[in-house]
Amino acid sequence: MSSRTLGRSGIRVSPIGFGAWAIGGPFVSGGKPAGWGEVDDDESVAAVHRALDLGVTFFDTADVYGTGRSERVLSRALAGRRDEVVIATKFGNVFDPATRTVIGRDVSAAYIRQACRASLERLGTDRIDLYQLHIGDAPLEQVDDMIAALEDLVAEGLIRSYGWSTDDPARAAAFARGPHCAAVQHQLNVLNDAPEMLAACDAHDLASVNRGPLAMGLLSGKYGPDTRLPMDDVRGDSPPWMRYFADGRPAPEFLVKLDAIRDVLTSGGRTLAQGALGWLLARSERTVPIPGIRTVAQAEQNAGALQHGPLDETQLRQIDELLGR
Ligand SMILES: NC(=O)c1ccc[n+]([C@@H]2O[C@H](COP(=O)([O-])OP(=O)(O)OC[C@H]3O[C@@H](n4cnc5c(N)ncnc54)[C@H](OP(=O)(O)O)[C@@H]3O)[C@@H](O)[C@H]2O)c1
Repeated sequence: MSSRTLGRSGIRVSPIGFGAWAIGGPFVSGGKPAGWGEVDDDESVAAVHRALDLGVTFFDTADVYGTGRSERVLSRALAGRRDEVVIATKFGNVFDPATRTVIGRDVSAAYIRQACRASLERLGTDRIDLYQLHIGDAPLEQVDDMIAALEDLVAEGLIRSYGWSTDDPARAAAFARGPHCAAVQHQLNVLNDAPEMLAACDAHDLASVNRGPLAMGLLSGKYGPDTRLPMDDVRGDSPPWMRYFADGRPAPEFLVKLDAIRDVLTSGGRTLAQGALGWLLARSERTVPIPGIRTVAQAEQNAGALQHGPLDETQLRQIDELLGR
């Protein structure tokens, strides 16, 4: 349990990573907030340091998070420790840092190269370990051109491997044609299984990097039916794709499901979040959950899931039964 591998790349990472979306702070996409409200960079840096001290070595960000701020804060936090960590970032969204607004998407070879150089500069590093396409529904017809562009970056030593952040197993399989494709990043948590994607990871020797492992915070158990998330939080003014929060409140059907499995997740002294991460660690040897972390306390609790390890087979079965799967 001390490490997992990013697919065929052989790159070793801690079994639980650090999701750096929230620490990018506010930005706007499609006229709606796409960040998680205001953040304090000093607190974010402290959270990264605590995670590092507790053995977390895998950090997932994107150029667009806070329109560059998340990458910059990570660079500050990881200064002097670059060789201890594995950095994943993403490309494909075009943004204006002056207005902190997403203004389009671009997956052309020229743009991929430009975005890569910009991320390297913000991250203060000479290489990106895992470079991920952030446009989940980018056309399959463009896959070969994107692979060619990414293989060029590998050959130049600017990136070590690449992957696609998508929930479509066919897209994951198509990207896996690229020799240095190492991972797919996809939605996976105890309330939302993804057997077809996990099968694709097995078939193509890809890591399954899990976004939304805590159902955007809902699985921590701290949000109840009366919670109203602030309007500057992506969960408060929920975009149409969001499942776990609706109209700024936790979606009732997921609260009911969480109640049903609460006792199993918290068995053995785990917190709910630790139980949810333990489910992911047990689901496949390829999974690497990347819980979003914004405070030292969250870093401690999420890294603490490693001490408890994966749930056992009986617990997995109980959860499936309780959720009617
Ligand atoms: N398209 C993409 O590629 C994509 C999309 C989504 C996410 N991601 C990546 O996946 C990462 C994680 O996914 P996510 O941010 O959607 O959601 P998540 O990991 O399911 O939930 C993260 C949120 O839960 C709360 N939280 C975390 N640990 C906690 C703990 N121990 N106790 C209580 N609350 C806790 C924090 O927010 P509060 O404290 O505010 O509740 C945190 O921001 C992101 O950071 C990003 O790196 C990628």
